[in-house]
Amino acid sequence: MPAPKPHKPPKGFAKNATVGSMAAYEKLYEQADRNPEAFWGKLAKQELHWFKPWKKTLDWKAPFAKWFVGGTTNMSYNCLDRHLTTARKNKAAIIWEGEPGDTETITYQELHRRVCRFANVLKKLGLRKGSRSIIYMPMIPELPVAMLACARLGITHSVVFGGFSAEALKTRIIDLDATVVITADGGWRRGKIVPLKATTDEAMAECPGVKHCIVARRTNNDIKMKKGRDHDWSALEAEVSDVCPAVELDSEHPLYVLYTSGTTGKPKGIVHTTGGYQLQANMSMKWVFDIKEEDTFWCAADIGWVTGHSYIVYGPLLVGTTTVMYEGAPAHPEPDRFWRIIDKYKVNILYTSPTAIRAFIRMGEQWPKKHDLSSLRLLGSVGEPINPAAWDWYHEFIGGGRCPIVDTWWQTETGSIMISPLPGATPLKPGSATFPLPGVAVDVVDMAGNSVPKGGEGYLVIRKPWPSMFRTLWGDKARFKKTYWSQIPGVYFVGDAARRDKDGYIWVLGRVDDVMNVSGHRLSTAELESALVKHKAVAEAAVIGKPHELTGQAVVAFVTLKQGQKTDDAMANALRDWVGVEIGKFARPEQIRFTDALPKTRSGKIMRRLLREIVTSDKVSGDITTLEDLSVINRLAGQQDEE
Ligand code: PRX
Repeated sequence: MPAPKPHKPPKGFAKNATVGSMAAYEKLYEQADRNPEAFWGKLAKQELHWFKPWKKTLDWKAPFAKWFVGGTTNMSYNCLDRHLTTARKNKAAIIWEGEPGDTETITYQELHRRVCRFANVLKKLGLRKGSRSIIYMPMIPELPVAMLACARLGITHSVVFGGFSAEALKTRIIDLDATVVITADGGWRRGKIVPLKATTDEAMAECPGVKHCIVARRTNNDIKMKKGRDHDWSALEAEVSDVCPAVELDSEHPLYVLYTSGTTGKPKGIVHTTGGYQLQANMSMKWVFDIKEEDTFWCAADIGWVTGHSYIVYGPLLVGTTTVMYEGAPAHPEPDRFWRIIDKYKVNILYTSPTAIRAFIRMGEQWPKKHDLSSLRLLGSVGEPINPAAWDWYHEFIGGGRCPIVDTWWQTETGSIMISPLPGATPLKPGSATFPLPGVAVDVVDMAGNSVPKGGEGYLVIRKPWPSMFRTLWGDKARFKKTYWSQIPGVYFVGDAARRDKDGYIWVLGRVDDVMNVSGHRLSTAELESALVKHKAVAEAAVIGKPHELTGQAVVAFVTLKQGQKTDDAMANALRDWVGVEIGKFARPEQIRFTDALPKTRSGKIMRRLLREIVTSDKVSGDITTLEDLSVINRLAGQQDEE
C-alpha cells in the first residue's frame, strides 16, 4: 500500500506563519548550521533583555557549554518587567482555572506585583542569589509566582511534581541541599484533597537543612504548622512591599534543577541555566507554536515536569502571550472538562500528550462535540510517540480537520523543543516529529557515530551544543559525562532510537535504555526495582515496561519474595502501594508477577529482554545461551497473564 500523502499546511495558516514555507525553514536551518554562534547571538540580542552584553557567545569545552559568557540577564525580568511598558501591561498573563471551577485572570502587571511581593518574602527569610528552594505545590497561581520570584533573585528552584511521595520529595530536598520548601495545604484532584503539607511534613522530618517552609492556602484542610519553621504565605506577604528589582544574574546562573529518572536508582538533577534556556524557550514559542499577539495558549501539562516549566510558565511569558493553567484532572467532573475550558476561554493553541488523547478517544467524541472548539488553530503533542490513530482522531475531532499538529520531540535535558514540524511550513506525516529546529544538529547514527543512510534506524544524537541544553547533573559531573557524552564519542547521546525515512523525516521509536515511558512520564526500571527490594518481604525484583494501549507503556514487576512470604493478591496490592509510598502513586506497577527465580546471565545480570518477551508473547524466541537456569524461563512463560 502506498504511504498516505503528507498533510500540507493549510494555505491561510502558512500565509501568516512565523516560518511560512519549507524554503524559509531550510534557509534558517542552513544559516544556523553554518554559523551557530552568529545565529544565536543575533537572536539573543533581538529577543531578550540583557543588563550587560556577553563577551563570548559560546564557550564549548566538551561536554561543558557556556552560552553568552559574561552577559547578565534575568528570567523574571524578561517574562514580566519588559512587557510593562507595552500594550501587554494589562493583558492576561495567566488564566487559571481550579478543579472545583473557581477561576482567576492575572494580568502582566498584577503578576509582576505578586512576584515582586513574594520575592521580598524570600529575601526577608534570608534567601539570596545561590540559595536553593524546593517547590511542591498544586497547579495554582502561587506556583508560577514562586518560580518567578526565585528566578528574580537568583534562587535556584526545583519543582517537585505534586504526585511524588514524601520519600521522593525528601531525596530531592537533600540532594539539592535546599533551605526552603514552598508548598500548599493541599490541592484538588478528582474532587479530593491531595494533602501536600502533610506529605511535606513527613519529608521535612528527615531534612534538618530546611529552615523555612512557606505554605499557601488552597484547600483549607487542617494542617500542622511548626513554629519558627512553617509560615503562612499570606501572613508573610502582608509584611512586605511589592517593589523588588530583578537581580542582575550571570547568563550561566542556574535557573532550576529538575529531577528525572535515569538508569540507576538515583534520580538525576538536570541543571538548566538562564541565558541560553531563555532564548530557546522563547524561539520555540515563535517557531513551533507560531505565537501571535492575540493567541491564548494552553499547555495542559503539569508544571512539575519540564513541559510545564518551558511551555506553561517560562516560554509563554517570555513571548508575552496568555497562558492557561488548569489545576485538576482532565475528566473531572465530566469527560468534557478540556473542551469546556477551550470553549470558555477561546483557546487557540492546545498542547497535550498522546496518553491524554488516547484517554479522550476512549471517552468518546460526543464530549468534544458538545462544545465550540472553533477557536483552535494549532494542536501540539509531546512526551511519547503519537500513534497515527490518535493523531487522526486529534486532527479530526479536536482540530476540526483544519489545525496542523506539531509533534514535538524533546527531553528534560534539552530544555526546549528540538525536533518538530513548523506548522506553516512542514508537510506532516502522522507519527513523525519530522525535522530538527534551526540550530539543532540532530543525527541518527550507529554505535560508531556514523550517520545511518536514509531509510535506516539508529541512535538519536545531537552533534553540536545548543543554548537551552542542560549544563550538568547537580553535584555529579562524572555521571553527566558517562551517561550522555561517552556512549558515542563527541556527541550528545539522547537515549532514544530513531528512524530517518527516505524523505529525511525523523521517527522517534522509543528508549534504548532501561527507562520506561508511562503516560509520557519517565520511569526508571532501577528506581522501581530499588523501591521494591526495600520492602521487607522482597528478595529480588525486576521491572520492565509492557506495551499499553492507553499509557504507551505499563509497569510490570517480577518479584521473588523472601522465604515464607505469601504470594497472594494481598501481597501484590501491598507492594503496589509500597511503590506509591516510595516514589508516588503514578509509578505503581500495573502488574506484579511472583516468581521463585529471575532469569539471569551467568554473571548474574537480570535478562530483562527475556522478561519483556514473556509479557508480550508469553514465549521466548531470542538467544538464551547465556541464561543460567533454563527452567526459570519455562516456569515464567507458563504463568497465566492476570489481565
Ligand atoms: O523517549 C523520548 C520521549 O520522552 C523522553 C523524554 O522524557 P522527559 O524528559 O520526561 O520529557 C518529556 C517531555 C519533553 C524522550 O527521550 N518523547 C518525548 N517527546 C516525544 C518522545 N518520543 C516520541 N515523540 C515525541 N514527540
